[in-house]
Amino acid sequence: MNARITGTGGYLPEKIIHNKHFESSLETSDEWIYARTGIRKRHVIAAHESTASMAEMAANRALDAAGLDADEVDLIIVGTSSPDRVFPSTACILQDKLGISDCVAFDVQAACSGFIYALGIAHQFIKAGGAKKALIIGAEANSRILDYSDRSTCVIFGDGAGAVVLEATEEQGILSTHLHSDGQYKDLLYVNNPIKDQLEDGDKAYLTMHGNDVYKVAVKTLGRIVDETLDANGMVKSDVDWLIPHQANIRIISSVAKKLNMPMEKVVLTIENQGNTSSASIPLALDQAVRDGRIKKGHVVLMEAFGGGFVWGSALVKM
Ligand code: COA
Repeated sequence: MNARITGTGGYLPEKIIHNKHFESSLETSDEWIYARTGIRKRHVIAAHESTASMAEMAANRALDAAGLDADEVDLIIVGTSSPDRVFPSTACILQDKLGISDCVAFDVQAACSGFIYALGIAHQFIKAGGAKKALIIGAEANSRILDYSDRSTCVIFGDGAGAVVLEATEEQGILSTHLHSDGQYKDLLYVNNPIKDQLEDGDKAYLTMHGNDVYKVAVKTLGRIVDETLDANGMVKSDVDWLIPHQANIRIISSVAKKLNMPMEKVVLTIENQGNTSSASIPLALDQAVRDGRIKKGHVVLMEAFGGGFVWGSALVKM
């Protein structure tokens, strides 16, 4: 059994924070942020919203696009590192919001690679006959784990959610997925566990990042995964119609595009207006490019992500 993406959806909170906003409270500037990251602004969740409520908006849009009723879904996987609760999973909270009475529902915690991990797992489920209609989501309330006095992290991340419907089909849609991790880098990008910290040392559970070290490993690793993905499919660079990278830093994205000999017009970019939305960035970018007509049925799309762990992965998809 094969699997194909039959619908996409996205949601961004209404509130937008421009780079200029940070200039009054931090030693930073719009020029520095844009030159080093490619980011101009990011969306930030409202007090009444949550990771699950953003996931619900994105999921409903993806279900509409696929022409599916929520109760037809038999698998929900949410990639998130900013869940509403430690447990139950955001997937279970979403399941309740969508009114689905019985299905498999769980979260995947793979930092910025959360969506690619969720897609890879759902693909295996469908291939093995364990599911027929899956909702795969990346959703993050990053603003709730940021220290707004740390200029090296708070300017980078934004909030949002993206979703796809993945259905069992005769034709091949997901060509391959490739998942990796290497825990030796666990101290370069992390968020502490608030429960443990409350008990032990009272540290706040904020995102901590050694940006420059992360940058160097990300560039090397993502270059390698491009080769791995194409080789696994017997394809060459020119077979790829679109690159949808995790939106971490425009300089990282450009170096992967260069590796693929891909002009930047063929790279779906959202980073300027959304910042790094972690596991939401790839499904949000996919949704944007499908809805504005750039990505069409039959196009070959390479998605790749890298994040804290480190965890990284790719998916080669025929739309
Ligand atoms: N405004 C102004 N200066 C800043 C700043 C900001 N927002 N953030 C950091 N700086 C400063 C640093 O404090 C440092 O100052 P110093 O030289 O006086 O110590 C200087 O800029 C250079 O810092 P460095 O970390 O070497 O900068 P950089 O060129 O590597 O850019 C990042 C920083 C975070 C933009 C970049 O490293 C990056 O994007 N890394 C990857 C992050 C990533 O992808 N994370 C997510 C993975 S999923």
